Order: sequence, then C-alpha cells, then structure tokens
Amino acid sequence: MKIVHVTDIHLVPQPATLYGLDPRTRLDAAIDSIHADHLDADLIVLTGDLAHWGEVPAYEALRHRIDGLKLPVVMMVGNHDDRTSLRVVFPGAMDDGNGFVQGSRIIDGHRLVFLDTKQAGTHAGAYCDPRLAWLENELAKGVEPVLLFMHHPPFLTGISSMDAITQQDVDALWQVLQPHAQRIRHIFLGHVHRPISGNWHGISFSLIPGLNHQVPLVLDPHGENIPGSHEPPAYAVVSVEDRSVVVHLKYFLDGSKRFPLDGYEVKGRGYALGFPTDEA
Ligand SMILES: [Fe+2]
Repeated sequence: MKIVHVTDIHLVPQPATLYGLDPRTRLDAAIDSIHADHLDADLIVLTGDLAHWGEVPAYEALRHRIDGLKLPVVMMVGNHDDRTSLRVVFPGAMDDGNGFVQGSRIIDGHRLVFLDTKQAGTHAGAYCDPRLAWLENELAKGVEPVLLFMHHPPFLTGISSMDAITQQDVDALWQVLQPHAQRIRHIFLGHVHRPISGNWHGISFSLIPGLNHQVPLVLDPHGENIPGSHEPPAYAVVSVEDRSVVVHLKYFLDGSKRFPLDGYEVKGRGYALGFPTDEA
C-alpha cells in the first residue's frame, strides 16, 4: 500500500496570502509533484487544517483542486476548520452519524481510521464520548491491522506553545486504543507544522510539515506565542509493507542541484573535491 500524506494546507480565500505565502500555489505545486511521481498511490490523506479560518470560499478553492485530482482523497478536519462550511462545499464529506468528520476504509487488508479531533472554541484537540464510542465500534469491526490518522498529536512535543493546544483527554483515548495497540501499525499526524517522529505507547508515529507556514524548533518550556517560520513545506510518501511502514518526506518546492554522488569513481577525486566549481 502506498499513501500520500498531506497536512495543514491552511487555504484562505483568493487573493489573500497567509504569513507572506500563498497556500493555493503551494497546494498546486504539491499536487503537480504527486501527479508526476506518485500516481501509483492508493490514497491521499489530508490530515486537517484545510482552511485557515474555515471559510466557504477557502473550501471552494480546495474543491476546485480536489476535482482535478487523479487519486482518491480523504479529507479530515483540524482546529482551523469549520465542519458546517466544509459540508457546504463538500456535502459528501465523512460523517460518523453524529456529525463528526470521521470514518474508516479498508485498503490492502488494513483498516485506515480517520479521527475528527476538532473542538469548537479552542485550538486544542478533543475527543468526546460519542467519538470514543464510534472509535470503539470501528475498531471492534475486525482484527485487521490499523493505520490511525488524526490532526492533533496525543503527546507533548516539547514545543510548549504547541503543547498548550495539543490533544486533550488522551487517557480516555488510550483506553479505547489500548486493547488494539498490537494491531495499530502507525499514527499519522499534523497540527504542529514540523517533521517529528517517534512512538507513543510503543506505536510509531510521523508528524509532518504543513503545506504553507511552519513552526521552527524552539524547545522553550515557557513559550507562550507560537513561533512561525518559512521553513520548506513537504508532504509524505508512505509505503506500508508486511513488515515495515516507511515514511519519506518530499520537499516538493526544493529546486536544488542534483548530481551523481559517485561521479568521482569515473572522473576522479577532483570531481568531488572541486565541486561545484569544476562540475557546475
Ligand atoms: Fe495547522
């Protein structure tokens, strides 16, 4: 199974830009890159913060681009999204029966489970009793391996300003997940706008950069304001095999020079030592 993971697009209505960047052109560039190199993917997953202020025109900008996608896509919500506005533009968006934008699908013998961790009135994540009941029921549907997708990370990253708005009530969430921990192969996350990997309760996770702005690595225990940066955006290309889950980051705006690392084997040491002036 091959999955393309995209997160935190933060679309704004045209012609607005956001923090000096244009999220529409960045999404277009990401889609062009995915179409060029990953048309064999089974699915694209957008793990939330589709629109910066949850406005209908921003979702319309997304609609236009989703319509042109050559791959199936799952859209999730994050703290910046608005479910009502999303459903105006995407009436077929996931619905768990209680109005939350969550669902699951089976691909290649795996159950992919997409959680809605948005809580109105806060940027922190929440997972209330109806959502916990839905998740418990989803996980009880089979014994197949699980890939879990959620916007907010259920752990602290050390970036205190983001930790202040991370997933809340994680003990209740873990209670539901714990009986299935052995079958949860990986957790895919957004929200922090940084590349972060590790494990939570022994379950591996990958948290990837956003498509627009990023959060720099500032491990300040007293940070109050969320720092922003123009570090490069990326999406992830995920390969799920029987014995491995491999996550690659694709910095799709990178235009840096490419060259054969082993060119000196033919051209001599001068190729490497004189680089780039001799071989520019
Ligand atoms: Fe975000």
